[in-house]
Amino acid sequence: MDRITVTDIAKTFTLKPGQFVTVDGRESNAITVLSGLDLTIRKGEFITLVGPSGSGKSVLLDIIAGLTEASAGRASIDGELITRPDPRMAYVFQQYALFPWLTALQNVEYALEVRGVARAERRQRARHFLSLFGLGSFEDRYPSQLSGGMQQRVAIARALSVEPEVLLMDEPFAALDAQTRDILQSELLRIWERLETTVVFVTHSIDEAVYLADRVVAITARPGRVKKIIDVDLPRPRDLDIRNTPEFGRLKGHVWEVLRDEVRAAQKDWALSTASH
Ligand SMILES: Nc1ncnc2c1ncn2[C@@H]1O[C@H](COP(=O)(O)OP(=O)(O)OP(=O)(O)O)[C@@H](O)[C@H]1O
Ligand SMILES: [Mg+2]
Repeated sequence: MDRITVTDIAKTFTLKPGQFVTVDGRESNAITVLSGLDLTIRKGEFITLVGPSGSGKSVLLDIIAGLTEASAGRASIDGELITRPDPRMAYVFQQYALFPWLTALQNVEYALEVRGVARAERRQRARHFLSLFGLGSFEDRYPSQLSGGMQQRVAIARALSVEPEVLLMDEPFAALDAQTRDILQSELLRIWERLETTVVFVTHSIDEAVYLADRVVAITARPGRVKKIIDVDLPRPRDLDIRNTPEFGRLKGHVWEVLRDEVRAAQKDWALSTASH
């Protein structure tokens, strides 16, 4: 069954007066970041999005989240047009977006309160999800008293605690050290397998993209559209050792082959934009 459908999406931003980008050798004050993008995401699927920097991955996530309006085309959840943030979806940003004046526990409880969960259940659920991420004894700490990796775990626990049908994650592990990242990837998979949430996860790491996904979606250089979808037919549950298998290596090689030209095109694009100023 399809959960999210993105049909012929385009997004153009008008730049501020005096700002320009070079498009086909000419200066323009509008920038088209997505064009003709189609994508169907099935219920319960783990999708990873990869593509060069500036290809519109974050903008696409914002459109699905109902935070940004598309210039053309439509995005829908369970057949309903997305026009505003939807309680069925939760978003994890690249930077830890915790409220600094609330403790870890209060941060999670607040998300549940907003969704109308009763007080007693809020506390119980918040504790449960914090402990799933190994934060049981840190629930009374404020964000500033937690390491970056711990803050990101709170942010993910908070997003998962509302048991969203769709979880949108924009490079959630990018700022973390390699070991923490490995641990969080496996924890996320374990919880996803249990909750049957649909996940859309943006990453620059091909390794991470292949390890997590049912399907890896490769986005072209700007304007972004789907270049290719790579099926990851590795068995589940997956542990970290799967990365040492020849099949994993083959899949990574394939994703890189698909992306290579797009990364080069994006670099040429940046060079042109900066050369004219
Ligand atoms: N509000 C905005 N106004 C103008 N341009 C914008 C706005 N938001 C995004 N852009 C531009 O849209 C393009 C795509 O941005 P986006 O953040 O989606 O890229 P990305 O694929 O997520 O890149 P990265 O991998 O570096 O995070 C960029 O060139 C960016 O400058
Ligand atoms: Mg981005």
